[in-house]
Order: sequence, then C-alpha cells, then structure tokens
Amino acid sequence: MDNKTLKSIRDAEKASHIEIYTTAKLFESGSWLQKPVKTVMDLTPYFQNYNNINILDLGCGIGRNCIALAQEFKSKCKIDCVDILELAIEELNNNAVRYGVENEINGIFSSIDDYIIPANSYDLIIAVSALEHVDNIESFKNKLNEISKGIKENGIVCLIINSQITEINKENGQQLTPQFEVNLKTQELLDLLKNAFDGWETIKNTVRSQRYDIPRENCVSDLTTDVVTFVAKK
Ligand SMILES: C[S@@+](CC[C@H](N)C(=O)[O-])C[C@H]1O[C@@H](n2cnc3c(N)ncnc32)[C@H](O)[C@@H]1O
Repeated sequence: MDNKTLKSIRDAEKASHIEIYTTAKLFESGSWLQKPVKTVMDLTPYFQNYNNINILDLGCGIGRNCIALAQEFKSKCKIDCVDILELAIEELNNNAVRYGVENEINGIFSSIDDYIIPANSYDLIIAVSALEHVDNIESFKNKLNEISKGIKENGIVCLIINSQITEINKENGQQLTPQFEVNLKTQELLDLLKNAFDGWETIKNTVRSQRYDIPRENCVSDLTTDVVTFVAKK
C-alpha cells in the first residue's frame, strides 16, 4: 500500500472513531461500547490467584475492555493502554476516573507500530479489532513476534482480528477499498498466528463470518469480514 492510500485509510479510520467516541458513552446501550468483549472477560479466572497482573491493551479505544478488566482486578493490576487517537486516550482517562480505576489504567498516546513491547513483561496482552490497523504486513508480523516475546511464562494472548474484508457501496454496488491497513486472507492470518505462537496452548481459535453496514465518508458500506479470535497460553 502506498503512503497516500495509507494516509487516506488512517484519516477515515480516525474520523469514524472520533464520531463514535464523541457520541456514544462507555457501558451505555446503543453502540458497541456498551459492554466488554466476552472472550476477554472469560479470561479473568486464569488470573484469580495473581496479586500483580501486568496487562497490555493495544488499540484500547476509550476503555471498553481494559476498564472492565481494571474493575475486576482492582488494586491488583497495571494496564498499559495504547491508542493512536489522542481523543481516545483523553476519554479513557476520564472513564478511568469515572469508574474508579485511575490507579490501574495507564493511557499511552501512541500507534501500536511505535509502541515497542518490552520482552517478558506482560501476563495478558489483548488487541481487539486493532492489529489490522498497523502500518503494513511487515509491521503486523513484527508486532506478533513482539507480543509473543512480551508475554511472561503462563501469560495469555487474546487477539481479535478482521480478515478477508470486503466493502461495497450500498447505494450503487461499487466495490470500495476496505478501510483497513492490513487486510489478510483468513488462512494467511491463521498461519501467521500459528507460527508466532507455536507451542502455546490454544484456548480459542475461531473464525466467524460477519456482515454489517458501516458509515463511510460519502456512503454506507456493506462490509463483510471473517473475524478471527485467537487466545493462547504461553
Ligand atoms: C474498533 S476500535 C476498538 C477499540 C477497543 N479495542 C475496543 O474493543 O473497544 C479500534 C481502536 O484502535 C485504534 N487504532 C487504530 N489504528 C491504530 C494504530 N495503528 N495504533 C494504535 N491504535 C490504533 C483506534 O483509534 C480505535 O480506538
């Protein structure tokens, strides 16, 4: 992908998140922000005996998953939360105060690409609908490698990634460029995950085809995607 296409995808992506983060409220009905992702929250029993849990949330948004985790593990966790959007980090910090978890939440305004994951430092790394927005496939592969090295022994990775995405203009049926920086074929993504986390215990590895309407700059897009959910223990 050339720099111009990358910039236009990124600008559209930022605009659509600014729209939702300024109109919808965390944990209130009416948008996808209304509750945390079940697959993420299902992991909490794995850490019940921990007193000090280090978590990384890549592309955290305004805290849908990390704030719920911080509430669950109050006083027992530190969560580094990374997002490319300054507004997301501002709202994350506001939500952390609102939900009484400001000591647990560490908002970091950075792209996932630029945030270097230190080796052997996290018990749980999550990335929900975020890794497909890194700069390019090389960066994606590097990040998987960093994630795998960044997780401590017995730690868990939880990745939810869109693949094989198509977008069609609903009004005139024209094919659109999917607004995702990395759009892998589903099998290619599954192979990359298998390689990056080779030898780990698989907890969940599913592919779910989804179709929904999504507002784009000048139209409504009919979007299809394979949502890959990958959870594994080191
Ligand atoms: C679909 S939202 C998901 C947010 C959150 N993970 C959740 O489940 O509620 C994707 C988020 O990733 C952020 N994002 C997109 N590209 C990014 C990048 N390259 N680096 C860091 N964050 C990014 C967006 O700003 C947005 O907040």
